[in-house]
Amino acid sequence: MEHADIVILGAGAAGLFCAGSALRPGRRVVVLDHATRPGEKIRISGGGRCNFTNMATARDRFLSQNPRFAASALSRYRPQDFVDLVDRAGIAWHEKTQGQLFCDGKATQIIDMLLNRMRGADLRLGAQIGALRHSGDRFELGVDGQMMTADRVIVATGGKSIPKMGATGLAYDLAQQFGLRLVETRAGLVPLTFAEQDLALCRPLAGISVEAQITHQGGRFRDALLFTHRGLSGPVILQISSFWRAGEFLTIDLAPGRNIAEALKQQRGQGGRMAVATALSHLLPDRLAAAIAAEQGLTEARLADQPNTRLDELGARINRWQIRPVGTEGYRTAEVTLGGIDTRDLDAKTMQARQVPGLYFIGECVDVTGWLGGYNFQWAWASADAAGRAD
Ligand code: FDA
Repeated sequence: MEHADIVILGAGAAGLFCAGSALRPGRRVVVLDHATRPGEKIRISGGGRCNFTNMATARDRFLSQNPRFAASALSRYRPQDFVDLVDRAGIAWHEKTQGQLFCDGKATQIIDMLLNRMRGADLRLGAQIGALRHSGDRFELGVDGQMMTADRVIVATGGKSIPKMGATGLAYDLAQQFGLRLVETRAGLVPLTFAEQDLALCRPLAGISVEAQITHQGGRFRDALLFTHRGLSGPVILQISSFWRAGEFLTIDLAPGRNIAEALKQQRGQGGRMAVATALSHLLPDRLAAAIAAEQGLTEARLADQPNTRLDELGARINRWQIRPVGTEGYRTAEVTLGGIDTRDLDAKTMQARQVPGLYFIGECVDVTGWLGGYNFQWAWASADAAGRAD
């Protein structure tokens, strides 16, 4: 029967990185994936340029039932460590905003770098993974209808997001099989969808982007908001989607840093026969201004005719827009899966299952989910390095 010292399930960001960290002279490392190409999510990440880390990585940039869990791995493998690898590989990069680092060229450069780094490991794509059993101090694993044994099994099969790209719930199934607890999973970093009455505003504005600020359940973000045919998207919405739960209202400021009611009162004070929609268009994108004026029945109205109470209402509509999403676009488009393997059942230094020596879980399948902006890859690298280097 074939034997490996370490079998890694999943050749995504975490699995590929872990293989490179685990290699030692004489050690047999096998990486298995059912996909025909490795690192598919890396390839499409960051709009094809891979936002491979964030220099502002800190544990408060992650959601988890236990926010302290990630700190150990993140402090031992830092963003600068990954930047050093990227530099050594001669990959040009740039900082976009807020510490987000992207490749200047294609994301595939990162995949090539990871494949080079794990040279010496045996990468098997198109592999069908069967049953996993713990037998004595070894594991037995079915692969393509054959059995193989391994001293350690590292599960890096990711979360449920984007099934079309090969996502499955394998990590969660294995965790449950071996008695680990799960934190309920849900789609994160995902567009929000709205009921028909709210879509009356969103739909005609599809494609328009505006800077917005949203504070919700401990998350506070200011970034671009994009109207879509089904609701709202854009970075600020993706960020807040990870904090939002079904049934909750969101309060959105469509003009952060600007008190719309006061600005309108000032414009009114300067006299003139300006229409409300025109006054609004000095403060918001034209189409959004026109749509809100129409929604409020103010298309023909003159600013000079509006009492303070009406301008206060209009200001609140823009600075404190209350809206209740009906849902999210779900795993079909979600960038990440929130929840997952309960960190109480993992060792924070090595990612090893506390009750099952030799079994490890890394990357997105663990209940550690980063904000948008390169944090999820940094978690993949850091958790993978922790497991790969474990003695
Ligand atoms: P990942 O999903 O990368 O890998 C899991 C692997 O396991 C896959 O290769 C899959 O085929 C394999 N697998 C699954 N089930 C299996 C089974 N049953 N049998 C065999 N193999 C199986 N993050 C970031 O930091 N910066 C960014 O720019 C982006 N951009 C981005 C864009 C888009 C569109 C998405 C969907 C996601 C991002 N992300 C991101 C998130 C990032 O891609 C994600 O956090 C990491 O890829 C997670 O790495 P993992 O290795 O844990 O899972």
